[in-house]
Amino acid sequence: MIKIDVITIFPDYFAPLSLSLLGKAQDKSLLEIAVHDLRDYTHDVHRTVDDTPYGGGAGMVMKPEPWGEALDALIAKASEPPTIVFPTPAGELFTQTRAGSLASLSQVIFACGRYEGIDARVVEHYRARQDVAQVLEVSLGDYVLNGGEVAVLAMIEALGRLIPGVIGNPESLAEESHGTDGLLEYPVYTKPPVFRDLAVPEVLTSGNHAKIAAWRAGRAREITQDRRPDLL
Ligand code: 6GU
Repeated sequence: MIKIDVITIFPDYFAPLSLSLLGKAQDKSLLEIAVHDLRDYTHDVHRTVDDTPYGGGAGMVMKPEPWGEALDALIAKASEPPTIVFPTPAGELFTQTRAGSLASLSQVIFACGRYEGIDARVVEHYRARQDVAQVLEVSLGDYVLNGGEVAVLAMIEALGRLIPGVIGNPESLAEESHGTDGLLEYPVYTKPPVFRDLAVPEVLTSGNHAKIAAWRAGRAREITQDRRPDLL
């Protein structure tokens, strides 16, 4: 059982986690997800989480103290040192490999920043803590979102489906894009045999499984060469 905690100023963003596959996985106790409101760890009447940046510049920076209190509360309750993930466009790329390694952990805390980011001393502090397994700064890709929430939804879905028992047929995991061969997935077809003058490739109806496997491997390689040559 993996425990996932999310700290955010927008808990409502995470409502979709109770739908579909991940909702069922929580019902089956394959994982447990808890969402926490950062503002519950403030003490002023305005529940302030941001302030102006030292050194000047545009935008606001998230204050370190609410993050310190929220993270300390979760770490104090943890049975083993948790991993903390800070989503940020300045992080290392989140990959299928990273999703798989997060899925094997006992507890992951996602700390969703907004505005121009979180005071850098928060990451520095928790990296030095002996009761924290590791601190990661991770990005979804080379574009900017308004905050970490949407990125963390994607990361939880990617890691959640790799937890044993969450996906009905685990063999489908090996064959999909970014699966064991590292290629993009081959194209797939179903009935009818002809759709708007387009026939299904003949090899797929031949019943020759070796030929089908070879055709799929060839198409996967061509598509990867065309769209993502960096993966080859
Ligand atoms: Cl993890 N956060 C934000 N704010 N923007 C992003 C991102 C993360 N990954 C890509 N863009």
